[in-house]
Amino acid sequence: MKIRANVNLQSLNTLALPGRAEYFCRVDNNQSLAEALAYARANNLPVSVLGGGSNVVFRGNISGLMVHLATRGIECAQEGDGLCVHWTAAAGENWHRFVQHTLAEKSYGLENLSLIPGLVGAAPIQNIGAYGLELSERFVSLQALEISSGKIAHFNKAECRFGYRDSIFKQGAAGQFVITSVTLALNTEPNVDISYPALAAALSARPQGDDRKDEFSPADVSAAVCAIRRQKLPDPAVQANAGSFFKNPVLGKQYWQKLQAEYPQLPGYPQADGSVKVPAAWLIDRAGWKGAVGQNCAVHSEHALVLVNSGACSGGQLLQLAEDIIVDIQRRFGILLVIEPQLLGLPAQE
Ligand code: FAD
Ligand code: EPU
Repeated sequence: MKIRANVNLQSLNTLALPGRAEYFCRVDNNQSLAEALAYARANNLPVSVLGGGSNVVFRGNISGLMVHLATRGIECAQEGDGLCVHWTAAAGENWHRFVQHTLAEKSYGLENLSLIPGLVGAAPIQNIGAYGLELSERFVSLQALEISSGKIAHFNKAECRFGYRDSIFKQGAAGQFVITSVTLALNTEPNVDISYPALAAALSARPQGDDRKDEFSPADVSAAVCAIRRQKLPDPAVQANAGSFFKNPVLGKQYWQKLQAEYPQLPGYPQADGSVKVPAAWLIDRAGWKGAVGQNCAVHSEHALVLVNSGACSGGQLLQLAEDIIVDIQRRFGILLVIEPQLLGLPAQE
């Protein structure tokens, strides 16, 4: 375990924001992680955790010890009737490579979550979701280390309190645990879900004469999801970004009906409890922000929910653009947008 001081984090976040960690430790096994946490306790250092850096905004420098997860390892165990397989992956495994590995091993159920950036350990934090599926639907349990004690903890699905882009790790247990591994239940029989309209549309767009038109394999679904994502979202390696910058707001039915009367084109996705989720992208687009330029940052010209670093942006400048959007959307539609990525570090003096 090697602890370094004053480490530059710019290449370790997909928004390419500047920021330095007071102390930084890359851990490639759980013993080193336990030692790093003990070091932080002994020296009274606050601990922050970094995975792939695809859902963080550095407001400034990070004080204390930042642990960077690089643990590896994937295991699988047959359950009961043999149709269900439990897969356990270390927190430092790349999420998309893990998805591809399970598919190659003929375990199905993660195909809709293909190509989401980041590492396995961060997946439960915001209950990653895309194309009709959320992690919680495959989730069994996770193992973590409690930062204050170094003790091993286990969380089952109920204990994680998953919601839309939400879990206990963003609420009551925020900042208290380092997730070390995640266990998911997959199936040995394919059972693809292509109910998400954009996914169904992409799959039915097969060339004429392709006789697989109505029979899609999990590999087909994974490939289609990857293709849609590559087309819709900017590649962070080309244009630094963190995916969706705001959560999609969920409205009470009455407020939704009132808005829809005013804006008949506003899309709405009814939820099981009667509420309606609306695309924040539509609101931001409609308000004229698509392509708008802030200080060293911009709203992506092709997708209004994505903020991009135009080159030398600071966390403060990016958050100023976000704040301007929030204020305007609140004024126009009476809806308070919530930032999706996690904010780390204290605001820098600019
Ligand atoms: P990081 O950004 O490193 O960390 C995110 C948060 O989790 C931080 O608060 C961090 O402290 C905490 N954390 C990370 N690892 C651990 C751990 N082991 N234990 C405890 N805390 C931890 N998300 C979706 O849900 N759906 C999408 O479709 C989607 N598309 C995206 C597309 C693009 C182009 C980008 C850039 C991002 C997208 N995201 C999406 C967001 C992001 O990929 C996910 O949130 C992902 O799970 C973040 O993983 P990470 O390893 O990069 O986490
Ligand atoms: N739209 C616009 N203008 C735009 C872009 C989109 O009006 O510039 C409207 C369109 O009506 C479109 C709707 O917004 O139908 C939804 O857009 P899209 O299908 O791109 O999905 P999204 O709501 O923007 C959500 C997730 C994504 C996830 C996709 C696919 C959130 C906050 N975002 O995006 O997750 O990949 O659905 O399931 O829930 C992420 O969390 O970082 C992320 C990328």
